[in-house]
Amino acid sequence: MAQSRAEELIARARQAAASAYARYSHFRVGAALRCGDGSIMTGFNIENRSFGLTVCAERTALFGALAAGKSDFKEIAVVGLDSEVPLPPCGACRQVLTEFMAPDTPVHFSGKDGKIVTVRLGQLLPNDSLHDFEPRS
Ligand code: THU
Repeated sequence: MAQSRAEELIARARQAAASAYARYSHFRVGAALRCGDGSIMTGFNIENRSFGLTVCAERTALFGALAAGKSDFKEIAVVGLDSEVPLPPCGACRQVLTEFMAPDTPVHFSGKDGKIVTVRLGQLLPNDSLHDFEPRS
């Protein structure tokens, strides 16, 4: 059967997770973003011995894409290579993603077993202040 677009993006996130710098948690995560120009930008978690300085896969993918000049993001996939459950973005990443992605942006996530869950970003962080509280004109 042909690979769906979601499966393609998940496969790229899974591949990226294999390069994670997860020296302390051994919990490898990858993320892949489909950009408006058709390109796919990936990232992985980068940990630090000062644990709080760790950056999640979702943010390395997004910040790398922005630094490379991308600005239009169509969907994102996240894979927790060592996760027993499909791994959704953490709260901090949800906040960061809403800065650059619309509430209806599909978010696909998966874990060890390969099952894929798809939701919209607005379901993960409803009523975000950038999109949902515009002053009345
Ligand atoms: N992590 C991510 O990269 N993305 C998530 O959505 C959840 C957590 C990373 C951060 C840390 O390196 C490791 O997973 C354990 O929390």
